[in-house]
Amino acid sequence: MKKLIVTSLSVLIAFSIANAKTVKLKEPPEELGKYYPPNSDKFEFLTNMYQLSTSFTGVFANIQEKQWDKALNWAEKMKDHYFKIGKLVKKWDKVLRKEAMNNLVEAVKSKDVASVKKYANIVGKTCVQCHKNYQLPTKIKYHFPSFDTSSIEDPVTGVEYGVHDYMKKVTNDMKLLKIYLMQGDKTKAVKSGNNFIKRFEGLQQMCSDCHTNKASEEIYFSKEIKGKLSTLKEALIKGDKDKVSSSLGYIGINNCSKCHNVHQIPAMLKEKFEK
Ligand code: HEC
Ligand code: HEC
Ligand code: HEC
Repeated sequence: MKKLIVTSLSVLIAFSIANAKTVKLKEPPEELGKYYPPNSDKFEFLTNMYQLSTSFTGVFANIQEKQWDKALNWAEKMKDHYFKIGKLVKKWDKVLRKEAMNNLVEAVKSKDVASVKKYANIVGKTCVQCHKNYQLPTKIKYHFPSFDTSSIEDPVTGVEYGVHDYMKKVTNDMKLLKIYLMQGDKTKAVKSGNNFIKRFEGLQQMCSDCHTNKASEEIYFSKEIKGKLSTLKEALIKGDKDKVSSSLGYIGINNCSKCHNVHQIPAMLKEKFEK
């Protein structure tokens, strides 16, 4: 019985290794950056994609309704937008199936449904292939702003820190206040707690680097959160471990974790392209 469990366990391990997935992020060609901030606010490449996709649908919607003239009009538009990919990003010109695209237009002209499907399929595969490689990395690299340019003035020392180092400072205060409280060093616990509170409030400085809307800030710096900071302060002075722990827990979930879910994950992914 024991042996059976061991063998099935090793089979299970082997199976899960065989199925282990690796996520790769392929860096998009440098020239794509011309069509995104800070180089351009117009998102020209993405706009061309939407136009391409709309004209693709325009072809099929009209063929279904036997509106061949309109279908041809959309097919020609589609061709323009498809070829434009190679004009916007020279490196991508060679992955386009231009002949199939030309044949698609011809097939619409001659109202040949089978050929339309055949060539749409060939062109369609180039969409899928390129998206598989580049859509996610493009969003990470070009849609999400960088935290590298933000800095925060430390209310405790007056020194300017990058986001990365400032986060470490806040975390350190949080850990120290717990350590001193647990080992009964009340004065030190209160001091670390006060530093934590000051630095926590200091976090809000960076929000306006990206957000013009105060409503976004108030989600993580709400009245409730501010209430918990006062509770924390009082509980530290009283040495009330349970209240310290529950107010820190509330702050950790409703500020730190929530903000990380929205900002830290893309920031960490984006860093992969910056190093
Ligand atoms: C803007 C919302 C935001 C809030 C609020 C926030 N963080 Fe962060 N935090 C970030 C971002 C973004 C990063 C990633 C920075 C980077 O990697 O450059 C980060 C990174 C970190 C890191 C990792 C640092 C490292 O060495 O990589 C720690 C630890 C951390 N935060 C702790 C905290 C704690 C504790 C709180 C709450 C008291 C908090 N953060 C509140 C956005 C936030
Ligand atoms: C050589 C690369 C390449 C080819 C070929 C390509 N695309 Fe794209 N496409 C991209 C990239 C990169 C993005 C991501 C752009 C962004 O998010 O800013 C994208 C995004 C899109 C989007 C936007 C999706 C969204 O919601 O964000 C649509 C729609 C789209 N493509 C349609 C098409 C269609 C239809 C075809 C084929 C007829 C096609 N694309 C061919 C590279 C390509
Ligand atoms: C480097 C830029 C940057 C900084 C700094 C930043 N954010 Fe954001 N934040 C974003 C982006 C990007 C989004 C996604 C929505 C968007 O594109 O506007 C977002 C989304 C949010 C959301 C989700 C709801 C919404 O408004 O879209 C909240 C809430 C939020 N941020 C709060 C904060 C707070 C609070 C701070 C400061 C502690 C902060 N952010 C700092 C870039 C940033």
